[in-house]
Amino acid sequence: MSQQMNEPSKQLYIQTVGCQMNILDSEMVVASLRKEGYSLTLDPASADAILFNTCSVREHAEEKAYNNVLRLKQLKLANPDLVIGVMGCMAQKDQQRVFDRVPFVDLVVGPGQLHKIPEFIERARQGERHQLAVSLSRRDGSADEIKRSHETFDPLRDPQMRPTPFQAYLRIQIGCDKFCTYCIVPMTRGPEQGRSPERILEEAKILAQQGAKEITLLGQTVNSYKWVDGDRTTRLADLLEMLHPIEGIERIKFVTNYPKDMTRDLLETVRDLPKCMPYLHVPAQSGSDVQLKRMKRGYTTADYYAMMDRIGEIMPGAAVSSDFIVGFCGETEEDFQETVEMVKRCRFKNSFVFQYSVRPGTKGAEILEDDIPEEVKHRRNLDLLAVQNQISLEDNLRFLGKTVSILVEGPSKWSVRKGQTGDLRQMTGRTPCDRIVVWDGNMRQTGEILPVEITDAYAFTMLGRVQTQEMVSGRSQLAQPDALSLVNLTTKQ
Ligand code: SAH
Ligand code: SF4
Ligand code: F3S
Repeated sequence: MSQQMNEPSKQLYIQTVGCQMNILDSEMVVASLRKEGYSLTLDPASADAILFNTCSVREHAEEKAYNNVLRLKQLKLANPDLVIGVMGCMAQKDQQRVFDRVPFVDLVVGPGQLHKIPEFIERARQGERHQLAVSLSRRDGSADEIKRSHETFDPLRDPQMRPTPFQAYLRIQIGCDKFCTYCIVPMTRGPEQGRSPERILEEAKILAQQGAKEITLLGQTVNSYKWVDGDRTTRLADLLEMLHPIEGIERIKFVTNYPKDMTRDLLETVRDLPKCMPYLHVPAQSGSDVQLKRMKRGYTTADYYAMMDRIGEIMPGAAVSSDFIVGFCGETEEDFQETVEMVKRCRFKNSFVFQYSVRPGTKGAEILEDDIPEEVKHRRNLDLLAVQNQISLEDNLRFLGKTVSILVEGPSKWSVRKGQTGDLRQMTGRTPCDRIVVWDGNMRQTGEILPVEITDAYAFTMLGRVQTQEMVSGRSQLAQPDALSLVNLTTKQ
């Protein structure tokens, strides 16, 4: 199947939606297809193969995916050799139904079967239609068989596929066993399984050799990570200790955290390892105990507040962000107000707010009524965001005049929108606690870690000015490597 000499390269167009898991999966698939002679194109009309990496977490994301695929009908009619594939969580969830809804799709591949894609594309090019590869559903086999059917596909990496080559995701866990009543992920991604510490370490070293400075460990409940080998148990804190010495890696983050497993020893490890960033994404989902119970989240608001206190005590100045679902079944105005209270009390760095979307196949869809009108969901969404944005703004304003260390990601969205060209651009990067900063800079700063003084602040972004070497050495506390960390700067207030 390897590319013949002189054969023009085949073009692949890939569209990715959903969470970091999908971004990483696309990176793997692109790497495997490059080996078969494909190169990436941004123009579907010039592609030989088009892949949609899909998400099922909310209905809206699925409808959009179907519409995007349906829109290719003309292209497929004009070029019957064009291969069209649907991969990811919607492929796993809908399986054969994808072909029923869009008959011109050639392949449907779930996230546990991605290694099959190169072969399927080749077979589709030979004329084979409707190839399907999905993992076993959660009732269709023994625990081991189900686990094996959700294979990871992680050794192949393609730095060019990443938004930035110096930032990489590293999967440490697949699947989820929490079964929150609203959530489809345990069905699309299968049982929770940790990857072996040896494989994770090996992959982290490869990423560092490829130039990754920042590694984000991925898992649906990443801090529940556990690997048992004989009498040795490895947890997330142990993994962080293992990865920390790797040369070249300067920042380590991990998402998404499950509140119940945010243990004291994990927080102390994060505090004590300078490369671990003081940023924790720990979705609360609701501030009402009644709702948390209906969601089957496995903790109470008191547990969550106790966790926030633990974080505040062990890692003062750390940023915490959250997800919330508004309009979940039975949510009263009082329940919602309790969520508002939680946001005010916890002062999250930011919150992602989602309107409940009923997902067939979940317990929520089966036993609870989706009884909150759309306009109420929408209003609560806006109200909660307004409260959060005010907090984000106030907390960002506290950075005015301070100098923070920034990993430079590249030109800002504004710069791209404005079509700025050349070396001088508005650049963007993130503080250790994941706040976004933009400044008038230079493309050559991309991938560097620089001291930036904050000159203005909004709810989502801060503006800054890069400190020159002389400015930095003029301030003795900034000459010490640790003093560049935001935690140290903020806790000194
Ligand atoms: N594993 C992560 C979340 C994965 S899904 C965790 O447990 O935190 C990302 C977010 O989507 C969730 O945190 C939740 O806020 C939201 N979400 C999940 N299912 C949803 C649904 N049916 N409707 C609306 N939002 C949903
Ligand atoms: Fe979904 Fe809950 Fe698992 Fe997160 S922990 S992926 S919300 S079931
Ligand atoms: Fe979506 Fe699947 Fe991620 S449902 S949120 S892409 S795990």
